[in-house]
Amino acid sequence: MRCTVFGTGYLGATHAACMAELGHEVLGVDIDEGKIAKLASGEVPFYEPGLADTLRRNLDSGRLRFTTSYAEAAAFADLHFLGVGTPQKKGEYGADLRHVHAVVDALAPLLDRPAVIVGKSTVPVGTAAELAVRASGLAPAGDAVEVAWNPEFLREGHAVVDTLRPDRVVVGVDPTRDGRAEALLRELYADLIAAEVPFLLTDLPTAELVKVSANAFLATKISFINAISEVCEAAGADVGALADALGHDARIGRRFLGAGLGFGGGCLPKDIRAFMARAGELGANQALMFLREVDSINMRRRTKMVELATRAVGGSLLGSTVAVLGAAFKPDSDDVRDSPALNVAGMLQLHGATVTVYDPKAMDNSRRLFPTLTYATTAIEACDGADAVLLATEWDEFRSLEPADLDGVVRSRVIVDGRRCLAADRWRAAGWTYFALGSKADGNERANRTGRVITPAGN
Ligand code: UDX
Repeated sequence: MRCTVFGTGYLGATHAACMAELGHEVLGVDIDEGKIAKLASGEVPFYEPGLADTLRRNLDSGRLRFTTSYAEAAAFADLHFLGVGTPQKKGEYGADLRHVHAVVDALAPLLDRPAVIVGKSTVPVGTAAELAVRASGLAPAGDAVEVAWNPEFLREGHAVVDTLRPDRVVVGVDPTRDGRAEALLRELYADLIAAEVPFLLTDLPTAELVKVSANAFLATKISFINAISEVCEAAGADVGALADALGHDARIGRRFLGAGLGFGGGCLPKDIRAFMARAGELGANQALMFLREVDSINMRRRTKMVELATRAVGGSLLGSTVAVLGAAFKPDSDDVRDSPALNVAGMLQLHGATVTVYDPKAMDNSRRLFPTLTYATTAIEACDGADAVLLATEWDEFRSLEPADLDGVVRSRVIVDGRRCLAADRWRAAGWTYFALGSKADGNERANRTGRVITPAGN
């Protein structure tokens, strides 16, 4: 089959490469010439494990090509995916649909034969129906151009695998149409359906809502455990052990009960806000009031981390030196959009700390967003002379750090585990004071003469 994919960010580039991997002929389209040139030469403009190999394999086979020409795209296929971004509007909760509208407004006038525009972007419910009217109004083929919705559930860092082996394929269609969109999408995803991936057919608003509801649920689950984490801290309990015990209940499950610095990235935070805004427009604002709390619990994690860091350096950040390990919003990604790690690093600096950040993949993006922070080229270099080391993103490289690696590097053996991913006992046994969000603080912390907290064996 043939299809096009408009937008070549995380979502679009992955979808284009993976549809080619399934054996289809794919044309990726973007208005950004630089991005298209990179992708056409086999270079992925962001970090995503496994994507470069998939991209190159399919470029070599000739199944995958890239263009900036909408006319070429309109002539190439009758199935057009929309994979452009829907960021949060500036200063408002709602989603900014300008990129989605721009694609439809430029593509539809070129559609002179029956075609299906398939949305993959996360949008406010009702967008698909609105785009259907917009597209058929602009297209020479008129009503023969229809809109379907096929939300994407991929996670950054696992994008290829999530696209080729998703938990489900959700397809929303207009039930008053003749079934062409469903037939085309069943054909496109035939390999997945054969591999018993559930193919769930819905109407348009349900498909749009499945996506935002899934993200709202995941965000709620994370904020739930983080709220419990606050109680654990107050009561001297341990949220990790608690989450393990909860997770054994098959109705709850252990995944997404990872307490710590909370969620960030380009999806969960802005999606729950856009969901609240849309519910308000629909007169259902009370229904999603709880998401406000989910959002504020999540943002509070970041200030809690700063408070913990303040205690860790002995009561005042002013004049302290802090290493922040991690900048990406999660491991295996170079994405720093709404990154808790960088947010915390920025707050520490505002409180007067000298902050040095290191991340295995997100340094360039971090420098662009937070040019005033200091950056190191290795984790060890970031920890040089530190009064406290903060782990903010749980990269494997940081999980496998040995206390001995930092001997003679840090000023005080104090570590703050924002992702609860280190073996606390190992660090304590090596004479470190170990702090974590969601646990009682170490009993062995004490203040030195300058007011800084050091371990009994601290250097
Ligand atoms: C999310 C959804 O998972 C995906 O289905 C959707 O398509 C896009 O949004 P993504 O943003 O890539 O994907 O990351 P995800 O792995 O879901 O993590 C989101 C955030 O939650 C990260 O900041 C992560 O660190 C945090 N998180 C995740 C926790 O704090 N605790 C957990 O237990 C799990």
